[in-house]
Amino acid sequence: MRNRSRAPLGFLILAGAILVSAPILLAAQQGRDTGASRPRPLPYETRDKTLGVVTCASSLCHGSMVEWKDAHILQNEYITWSRVDKHARATLVLLNAQSRKIAKNLGLSDPAEKSKICLDCHAHNPGSASMGTRAKLSDGVTCEACHGPAERWVASHAVPGATHAQNIAHGLYPTDQPIPRARLCMSCHFGNADRFVTHRLMGAGHPRLSFKLETFSQIGPSHFRVDADYEARKGKWNGAKVWAIGQALAVAETMKVLTDPNRGRDGLFPEFVLFDCYACHHPMSEKKWTSSGSFGGRSAPGLARLNDSNMLMLRAIMHVVDPPVAEEISARVVAVHRAIAGEGALATSAQALGAVAEQAAETIASHRFDDSALRGVALALVDEGLAGHYKDYAAAEQSVMAVGSVLNYMRSQGLLANVRSVNQGLARLRDPLSNDENYQPAEFQKRLQEFRTILEGLPASPQVSHD
Ligand code: HEC
Ligand code: HEC
Ligand code: HEC
Ligand code: HEC
Repeated sequence: MRNRSRAPLGFLILAGAILVSAPILLAAQQGRDTGASRPRPLPYETRDKTLGVVTCASSLCHGSMVEWKDAHILQNEYITWSRVDKHARATLVLLNAQSRKIAKNLGLSDPAEKSKICLDCHAHNPGSASMGTRAKLSDGVTCEACHGPAERWVASHAVPGATHAQNIAHGLYPTDQPIPRARLCMSCHFGNADRFVTHRLMGAGHPRLSFKLETFSQIGPSHFRVDADYEARKGKWNGAKVWAIGQALAVAETMKVLTDPNRGRDGLFPEFVLFDCYACHHPMSEKKWTSSGSFGGRSAPGLARLNDSNMLMLRAIMHVVDPPVAEEISARVVAVHRAIAGEGALATSAQALGAVAEQAAETIASHRFDDSALRGVALALVDEGLAGHYKDYAAAEQSVMAVGSVLNYMRSQGLLANVRSVNQGLARLRDPLSNDENYQPAEFQKRLQEFRTILEGLPASPQVSHD
């Protein structure tokens, strides 16, 4: 799916798209939902001056060729970033043939590397008034894109004895805290009120953004080391928690886009990117529709189905973190699906789901989210299937991708004792999904049952849990 734009697409069924736009028009008339209280401004939102990456790069600061032995931090962060971190090359990407094609297809008046729509995610772009004289857009996603414009903290943060809390009070962005970090990564890797990879952008050739656990768990090749010293200064590192929070925020954001008259529509149509791609992108000969959706609610034939994969993940996470909330999410998602099909007010149900999701992010942030929680999420996803919630192909496919993503992360962290049996089990799970036209829910359920046995049989992981 990631490189969908390069593959020819199937025949499209458009009736669903037209029907689904009605409730969205209605939502537009009812006005936008009221969001939760304003979170801390993201780096591009503050009015502090951005000084530019040259300010950080001195060999006595973050540009040392080798790691410092007696410092809290590595001091070669700039070298790591500039040599191996894709963020340093994010603006360079805008000069390549693919970007030229995207810009041309969109009919942009400027080339991609000069267009705000691209620079907002492929650079640190707080607006020219906030850019210091040495800051350059072509530097890519710079230190200040994540750590915040340095005007007020650059001098004080290097003074011996400066604390992290003081730095944050001076405008350093709290990348160490799970909710702010999830919001930061998602501002470019999922999209937010100011920037979004819309269906139009994908139609023009932009890759679909992937939302993998690995992406959110670390910023590989890491320019920081989480060791005892790090944890003493900043607390435990937990990438999986950031990812879980990201799922909750993605659901909340999707609900906002769905009901925002300015963002949720593209001309006459709703923003297609919120809907299941395969609802439209499949041959007419495939009769894919089944009467029950992934949340056990009824689905309506001939309608584009909202892409509920993040909701599926969030529900599995909440099964582990706070089971009654998982039930509530189910009911809310079913209500949103119904409203899209024309039964009930979309603005109301979307706002309700968004509010539960925002609250869930807070709950996850204060939950001890360890590797047994991850295993619980995988099990919860399997159990949804055993309860008969994956009757349609798309839901089954999504669940397998989700389980795969959780287990793959656990493997990368050394938390899976028997990688081989898990891989074999995953392969057997994928097998009935190889041909969507012949999808047999009963066969899939049988394999889910087998897979559950494998998961249950795994010994408790040897590693210490990380909060
Ligand atoms: C909402 C943020 C966002 C916007 C807006 C955006 N991009 Fe991207 N783009 C990304 C992210 C994130 C990736 C990396 C995807 C991944 O690896 O998961 C990416 C990847 C790409 C790639 C593929 C890069 C590679 O290494 O293969 C190209 C080309 C690209 N973008 C061009 C553009 C152009 C041109 C525009 C403006 C028309 C644009 N992008 C707008 C976030 C965005
Ligand atoms: C894509 C976002 C991103 C970019 C770009 C980025 N960082 Fe970071 N950085 C992080 C995150 C996340 C952490 C870990 C959380 C924390 O400790 O605040 C971190 C941690 C750090 C730390 C603290 C390490 C510790 O042990 O306390 C330093 C120092 C640092 N980064 C410097 C830099 C410098 C210098 C650059 C540019 C050359 C840079 N970062 C670019 C996200 C980023
Ligand atoms: C200002 C926008 C922006 C922010 C903030 C941001 N990223 Fe990125 N990130 C990008 C873009 C654009 C790319 C793609 C660059 C390319 O393809 O060359 C990227 C690439 C990546 C990649 C490499 C993906 C691959 O396919 O190899 C990872 C991993 C990643 N980001 C993680 C993170 C994490 C974790 C955070 C939050 C701490 C974060 N990013 C914050 C814009 C951003
Ligand atoms: C409601 C229906 C609908 C949904 C849902 C939908 N699309 Fe589309 N898509 C369209 C239409 C209509 C076109 C334009 C068709 C054409 O140009 O032939 C299109 C075109 C595209 C194109 C350009 C194809 C080309 O040949 O140039 C890409 C890529 C694409 N969609 C990807 C996606 C992805 C990825 C998703 C899911 C995130 C998605 N679409 C969801 C209706 C939809």
